[in-house]
Amino acid sequence: MAAREIVENIYSVGTINWDLRYFDAIMPTPRGSSYNAYLVKGSDKTALIDTGEPHDEADFVTNLMRLDQDSLDYIVCLHAEQDHSGMLPLMLEVYPMAKVVTNEVCKGLLMAMHHLEELEERFIVIGDKETLSLGDKTLKFYLAPWVHWPDTMFAEVVEDKVLFTSDFLGTHYASPTLFQDDNSPDYLEAAKRYYAAIMMPFRASVQEYLGLIDEISPDYIGPSHGPVLKLPAKIIDLYRDWSSDTPKNSVVVGYVSMHGSTELMVKFLVDDLVQRGIPVQQYNLLETDTGVLGSAIVDAATIILATPTVLFGPHPVAVNTAYLVRALRPKVKYLGVIGSYGWGTNAVNYLAEMLAPLGAEMLEPVYIKGLPDEQTIANLHKLADSIEERHKTL
Ligand code: FEO
Repeated sequence: MAAREIVENIYSVGTINWDLRYFDAIMPTPRGSSYNAYLVKGSDKTALIDTGEPHDEADFVTNLMRLDQDSLDYIVCLHAEQDHSGMLPLMLEVYPMAKVVTNEVCKGLLMAMHHLEELEERFIVIGDKETLSLGDKTLKFYLAPWVHWPDTMFAEVVEDKVLFTSDFLGTHYASPTLFQDDNSPDYLEAAKRYYAAIMMPFRASVQEYLGLIDEISPDYIGPSHGPVLKLPAKIIDLYRDWSSDTPKNSVVVGYVSMHGSTELMVKFLVDDLVQRGIPVQQYNLLETDTGVLGSAIVDAATIILATPTVLFGPHPVAVNTAYLVRALRPKVKYLGVIGSYGWGTNAVNYLAEMLAPLGAEMLEPVYIKGLPDEQTIANLHKLADSIEERHKTL
């Protein structure tokens, strides 16, 4: 990917990975991603904002060479995670006069991750709302811990109304264009998937920093992944909706079934909810991309896990899903467990304990021995009654 100009003398110099299919060995990225870095050329000084993933070293260095960047004054590190700091040691060698500009927390993490102790004199530590002059451009820094690490900060080019937000407002999306296409369903799907996996666990912080961005009111936002956001109102509105405290009238049912009993129960429950006009999405957990499931639970008021019993507990795929749901911390208000067993089970208690930290109300479980019967169907109707009644209060 070539270096591209955002506004005069501010360039995107990062790299695109079209083929990336898993990020951090956990998050499916069906549309690849990018590792963004930015070059800000002032009349007196030049700053590089972040570096990138070492895998893309050749492309990154080529981008800098294309801009004839034979010297550099500052390397700003907004966040220490290796996908953005991985080439910092290389950049410190290539640009021996460059200083690293970062906050105290990020400095500590960079030291630990790259063993830079001998280069400590090259660090400049800045605080919240401090500025750094590049001549006719000024960098202003905002500490923004917990979207998503404790070290995260933003940097604004004040004169150009360009704000670099690290991972915040990013997308794992290998974009063919420099700027976002707000009308692209693929981009918007990737943006929600990214929010769910990376930002949803920090929903309160997301709300806080949306307020900060309102105050700064940038024309451009340069996140660390995905397209640069030009006139970013739409994605900010979506973030406001996704991170709000109010879930939507929707139910997500994730299930796994061994001999068909649990699947039959899911069918009865989902059909019942559909007949009541309650939006419901059903996912076979054996086949569902966790990114799709993560996106689905962003808004859901109710999540139902349906699992048979394996030995004494839930199916391992259901356990994996419960762990994921707990870790992502959606704003779900009601949780339910349904399923079946042969000769004994502790599945309901096991899942209820796993999900307790979410603070949602546990609905009456429907957990049966063997095949569903008339009583099972009646109990599933009661569960649907409970969901309908509670969703009326949303
Ligand atoms: Fe894209 Fe937290 O690193």
